[in-house]
Amino acid sequence: MKADWAFGAGEQAVTFVARRDDEHYVEQGLSWYAATGRMELTPGHRHGGGEIYRTFDAEASILRCFQCHSTGPLRLGEGYRIEPPEAGVQCETCHGPGKAHAESGAAVRNPARLTAVQINQLCGECHRKPAATGDETDWGNAWNARHQPLYLAESACFQKSGGRLSCFTCHAPHAELERAAEAYGKVCGSCHAKPRHRAATVASKGTCVGCHMPAVKPNANLSFANHWIGVYGAGSVLRPGGRRRLVVEDGRR
Ligand code: HEC
Ligand code: HEC
Ligand code: HEC
Ligand code: HEC
Ligand code: HEC
Ligand code: HEC
Repeated sequence: MKADWAFGAGEQAVTFVARRDDEHYVEQGLSWYAATGRMELTPGHRHGGGEIYRTFDAEASILRCFQCHSTGPLRLGEGYRIEPPEAGVQCETCHGPGKAHAESGAAVRNPARLTAVQINQLCGECHRKPAATGDETDWGNAWNARHQPLYLAESACFQKSGGRLSCFTCHAPHAELERAAEAYGKVCGSCHAKPRHRAATVASKGTCVGCHMPAVKPNANLSFANHWIGVYGAGSVLRPGGRRRLVVEDGRR
């Protein structure tokens, strides 16, 4: 199998892409999955033979892979070879171009000064933005749960905390993804010191994020935390809808 590029850092999966000729790229039909350590069908593919894309198709399918998985404006080299300035998500993705900074000492962007809504937009360039008014999201489609800014923006935590909840409240920008549920529980506790749970809920085992940001598995090998923080009914992980309030104080919800 020919591979000029490997997409994905390998936390969950790696998909291989190769240039075929001046006009075409191929996305290989088998991807490597961390969950099983094996090569299995690439998401969206029906057979292992790979999918051929025209480099300049109307959807720009292959160019778009590179746009989200690299840093800086794409260049085209000899034979319409796609040449990203830097592979992967690098400093300039969040801090903006460093050239002006190096040449004239202009300040680089400090994302910590952005509002929570602006951070959603920045990260949403690749992780998908919150829905614009009027946009329809299929909340029943497990593949959409990968779109963290979109889902987070639906949470009461996000909407009602006066801009205090952003991606960076839970994710340190320069560190590996935290995997310990307890670390996230501490963040929840900073706003919810004493959550009101029924006795039965308290008695059952689990972590804050295990119950309120449940794992969604769009296929057997991939898993995403549902960033729509809420109360989920038994067995439901796609959209909150469990018991919302112990006491209904007014007729609004
Ligand atoms: C240019 C596109 C792009 C932008 C903008 C972007 N990301 Fe990502 N991010 C990615 C890709 C692609 C991955 C998957 C990494 C990989 O597998 O190569 C990723 C992975 C991650 C991960 C998981 C890392 C892991 O170890 O699994 C986190 C957390 C994350 N991004 C947070 C953010 C936040 C927060 C922002 C906004 C400040 C942001 N990203 C902006 C493309 C982007
Ligand atoms: C709109 C931006 C965007 C486009 C277009 C895009 N990706 Fe990604 N991709 C991401 C982000 C963001 C992640 C990180 C997902 C996460 O962990 O939440 C990711 C993750 C991945 C992963 C790791 C497995 C996973 O699902 O987390 C692979 C492999 C991958 N992408 C391959 C591709 C390929 C191949 C293409 C083109 C056919 C492509 N991507 C197009 C943004 C994009
Ligand atoms: C996912 C987005 C993201 C990426 C990628 C990223 N940073 Fe940052 N960086 C941030 C955020 C957010 C802050 C502010 C952190 C804070 O104040 O707690 C920051 C702060 C900094 C600071 C301190 C700036 C100041 O004025 O206090 C430096 C220096 C820095 N980053 C350098 C880098 C370098 C070098 C890279 C690449 C190796 C990089 N960053 C990649 C998001 C990012
Ligand atoms: C920055 C503060 C903040 C953080 C951090 C935060 N929340 Fe919230 N959360 C809120 C606010 C504000 C509300 C809305 C309360 C209300 O409606 O009166 C809320 C509502 C909720 C609700 C009720 C949801 C609903 O739809 O009514 C749950 C469940 C919840 N949070 C769980 C969590 C969990 C679990 C975490 C950690 C993963 C967390 N929150 C982190 C501020 C926060
Ligand atoms: C209230 C805490 C919280 C906030 C806010 C938050 N995340 Fe997460 N995030 C988590 C948890 C918990 C996980 C699951 C970690 C694990 O796999 O153990 C996670 C995982 C991720 C991953 C890995 C793939 C996945 O979905 O499991 C990415 C990428 C990510 N977050 C991006 C973002 C982005 C972008 C934002 C802002 C829009 C954001 N997160 C805001 C708690 C949060
Ligand atoms: C076993 C699953 C489970 C665990 C673990 C759990 N919750 Fe809950 N949570 C629920 C359910 C279910 C409700 C709805 C009320 C009820 O039925 O107890 C709820 C309600 C809430 C509410 C809304 C009620 C209120 O106080 O406004 C918040 C906030 C909340 N939880 C936060 C948390 C935090 C923070 C943690 C971690 C310390 C946590 N939960 C751990 C299942 C859980």
